[in-house]
Amino acid sequence: MPLHLGVAWYPEHWPESRWIEDVRLMREAGITVVRLGEFAWSSLEPEEGEFALDWLERAVALAAEHGIACVLGTPTAAPPAWLTQRYPDVLAVNPDGRPATHGTRCHYDVTSERYLALCRRIVEQLARRFGRDPRVIGWQIDNEFNTVSYSENARRAFQAWLRAHYGSLDALNQAWATAYWSQHYTDWSQIPLPLSGAHGFNQPHNPGLRLKWRQFVTDVYRRFLRNQVEVIRAYARPEQWVTHNFMGFFDGFDHYALCEDLDFAAWDQYFPEGPLCFERDCAAHDLTRGFKRRNFWLMETQPGSINWSDVNQVQAKGETFAVAWTAVAHGADAVCYWQWRNALNGQEQYHGSLIAPDGKPRPIYEEIKRLGEAFRRVGTLFDGTTLHAEVALLHSYADRWAIDFQRHHARFDPLAYLRAFYTPLIRRNIAVDILSTHADLQGYKLVIAAPHIMDEAIAQRLRDFVAGGGHLVLGVRSGVKTRDNALWQQRPPALLQDLAGVHVEEYFALREPIALVPAEAAPAWLRGTASIWAEWLVPGANTIVLARYAPYNGWLDAQAAITLKRHPNGGAVWTLGAWLDEPLHDALIGWIAEQAGVQPVLPVPLETAHVMRRGSAYIVIAGEKPARFELPWRAREHLSGTTLQTVALPPWGVAVLTPEP
Ligand code: GAL
Repeated sequence: MPLHLGVAWYPEHWPESRWIEDVRLMREAGITVVRLGEFAWSSLEPEEGEFALDWLERAVALAAEHGIACVLGTPTAAPPAWLTQRYPDVLAVNPDGRPATHGTRCHYDVTSERYLALCRRIVEQLARRFGRDPRVIGWQIDNEFNTVSYSENARRAFQAWLRAHYGSLDALNQAWATAYWSQHYTDWSQIPLPLSGAHGFNQPHNPGLRLKWRQFVTDVYRRFLRNQVEVIRAYARPEQWVTHNFMGFFDGFDHYALCEDLDFAAWDQYFPEGPLCFERDCAAHDLTRGFKRRNFWLMETQPGSINWSDVNQVQAKGETFAVAWTAVAHGADAVCYWQWRNALNGQEQYHGSLIAPDGKPRPIYEEIKRLGEAFRRVGTLFDGTTLHAEVALLHSYADRWAIDFQRHHARFDPLAYLRAFYTPLIRRNIAVDILSTHADLQGYKLVIAAPHIMDEAIAQRLRDFVAGGGHLVLGVRSGVKTRDNALWQQRPPALLQDLAGVHVEEYFALREPIALVPAEAAPAWLRGTASIWAEWLVPGANTIVLARYAPYNGWLDAQAAITLKRHPNGGAVWTLGAWLDEPLHDALIGWIAEQAGVQPVLPVPLETAHVMRRGSAYIVIAGEKPARFELPWRAREHLSGTTLQTVALPPWGVAVLTPEP
């Protein structure tokens, strides 16, 4: 696939007489793909059963005449008013029992059979018309799935789902330990929706029920997605791909399951928290690449600014260019902006766009045009390439949900914990694959995992990995829960006790930080503090203790905090029994990576520049400060067409390098 530069175009917002100038300016900016049709249901089916697709075809044709390919978004995130008026039961219901009102988006009840049928009908019209159209290269289903509906329909569907999942009420009652608080169910219809927290009732629902609800939500979204994917595939030529635009680390459903029905994953990256920050913002690229273990599309990003944060600052000059190259460096095959031109009214009037309401370029247009030139010039370097990572960081929605239901320490944010492992690696320009806990681990040197929900399959893959000579880092709260979110009877890490050579005697939520000191076998720098969480590790006979707790509460004093168990064949398990402070965690993960033989993409002094490699090309990106460093070899810099050995970049500068032969 070539490197695409794209934009979301909503031609239906403007009279057709304006389109030609729009598309001419797109071509001039180097735009190679537009996404259109998304949210356009009321323009495509103005009355029930009356379809109006000609305007869309004219837009597709105009784009094609200017050498621009099309991605069609199915319009199902924004049903027309006639639809929600005639069929109010398709509207999502909030936890308080109130249905959504018309005029927003993503407000449908994903469990509604009627809505699925209506979606299928409009998508079928589109697929019939454009499925064999060579000007259309692919499809995006709906937009950023996110809404959960607590309707009567959802409740019945959940109960039916549980019945299929457990087979019998006995099995369910046992899995959820329902004798507790008299939750015992004698009929499927008694099982409630997990509405605790709503209506001012604060007592939480059963952890088993809550986990299964999230899995049910995953399955209904998967069904919703498939309903459209199937109809598209029935009409589409095989070259047309199908994707969905996800939202980074959003955890409303299990993304690995949904991605099974897609050709590749896409995501929408925005910067509500401030300027591009590699440590914070690259993880979601690596996560999205891990959904299918292949490159992804950045389906949306901001042309300068957004309109929905506290302060919607415009990105600095040059930053938008750097953002795009960061995505490419992490495996994006397309960078698409949201959006081309603002509608005169509607909820997003203040959002960044390439073109102003007067039809003329806004300042950011020139920068995106520079990107278009760069993609045209060097894009082929990335054809068929992806990243090669020696480290896998394991991630699981079920683990995140289970911990979030019972954090035990308000600040135990499972995502922050995952990021604590990602940061030391990415700072060192070590490529990381963020993968499902169920992924195949062959080929990695280092795997980092904290599988809170443990099953035999997960345990066996980790055992095999270590038996093959791999280094495994095991984090806190590993091996605590079963797939039903029940407790394992064994002490954590349950099925991994032998592999890790430890068991957890007791766990402690920490009000105050606890000091850690190096044990006899450890380097002297292994010293610092832990906060939020500490586990009292009991080492087995051949387990090396690397750090111990200093006096704290009596229980933890002098107990093992960090251990290492060496295995034949060079394999090793490092158990980190506490949430370490940042400097200690950074030093320790850096050291373990070295022990595991993991190499940075390029040896660049820390905090100088961000570097990733795709195929033979190194993409170097400076942050807010200028960057300067020596390369170990002479290189061709492809954006400027020069040869160099010293990289010197201004703030947000980018270099694309290949070693000179
Ligand atoms: C995204 C959404 C787009 C647009 C954008 C604005 O979440 O998919 O349609 O609303 O936000 O930043």
